Amino acid sequence: PAEVPVRSLKVLLAGPRGFCAGVDRAIRVVEEAIRRYGAPVYVRHEIVHNRTVVEELEAQGAIFVEELDEVPADAHVVFSAHGVPKTVPAEAERRNLLYLDATCPLVSKVHREAERHFADGGPESRHILMIGHAGHPEVVGTMGQLPAGAVTLINDAEEARTVQPADPARLAFITQTTLSVDDTAEIVEILRRRFPLIEGPKREDICYATTNRQEAVKAIAPGCDLVIVIGSPNSSNSQRLREVAERSGTPRALLVPRLSNLDWSVLEGVNTLGITAGASAPEALVQEMVAALAKRFTLEIEERTVKEENVTFRLPAPLG
Ligand code: F3S
Repeated sequence: PAEVPVRSLKVLLAGPRGFCAGVDRAIRVVEEAIRRYGAPVYVRHEIVHNRTVVEELEAQGAIFVEELDEVPADAHVVFSAHGVPKTVPAEAERRNLLYLDATCPLVSKVHREAERHFADGGPESRHILMIGHAGHPEVVGTMGQLPAGAVTLINDAEEARTVQPADPARLAFITQTTLSVDDTAEIVEILRRRFPLIEGPKREDICYATTNRQEAVKAIAPGCDLVIVIGSPNSSNSQRLREVAERSGTPRALLVPRLSNLDWSVLEGVNTLGITAGASAPEALVQEMVAALAKRFTLEIEERTVKEENVTFRLPAPLG
């Protein structure tokens, strides 16, 4: 006999969630490159920080590598959505590799801001403070737009309070695109207070997708006993979503890469479950989880959308 689902569970789906325009474009770059040039197409670094996306592209003929020296001569190689230091395209050119740049246009925008502040190191040059997380490829890529020493990384409020720039009158700041909006506002405030002449964007460089997903999770979290963020542990924006959820009044928020990683015992005692997904997590993973929940519970699903998004990016020149 079929199992009868007994317990009821309310599911609040945060909107927007999941793929942003930059992730969507980066995946299309790899797919289109495979279609045009044939497999294999090499991809430097995970195209976006999601295991499922990577595996699906591997099945289509993508080969993921960490560095260009793993790419054979004459191959096509795609640079990931996070952006790359200037040395990477330079090295690709030196080796005659055919490269496609899937850097998100909103990351490229920050690269250009950095270059503008640096102003070729001339008399107008400003030293740059980059708010971001050490070691994340976006940070490595953005700092790598400029010569070593041109950018100082600010990881947190404490570093903003203690940094001692050589010339406080000639400073600028930029940020990673996937930070916590609230933490960054605090850091920017510290910097502006300490260095009133610092130049920077009006608020920060956090992208629309990061901002909207954090706002959406804040809207559902207070009413949830548990929030699940579908996303990979190396995904910065997914990690931030989890933290934002936890700080917004839910007793517990968990990052779960996909259904097969879910420990069902976390749902004990949960009456209202919030679900969102990081910018690199496919909607199919949300639906997979909802379908599995529907087999165990009588679900009442409510979608709460705080903002409609209609951003799309064109493919880079050779593919567009
Ligand atoms: Fe771009 Fe923001 Fe997505 S920077 S890749 S739109 S999370």
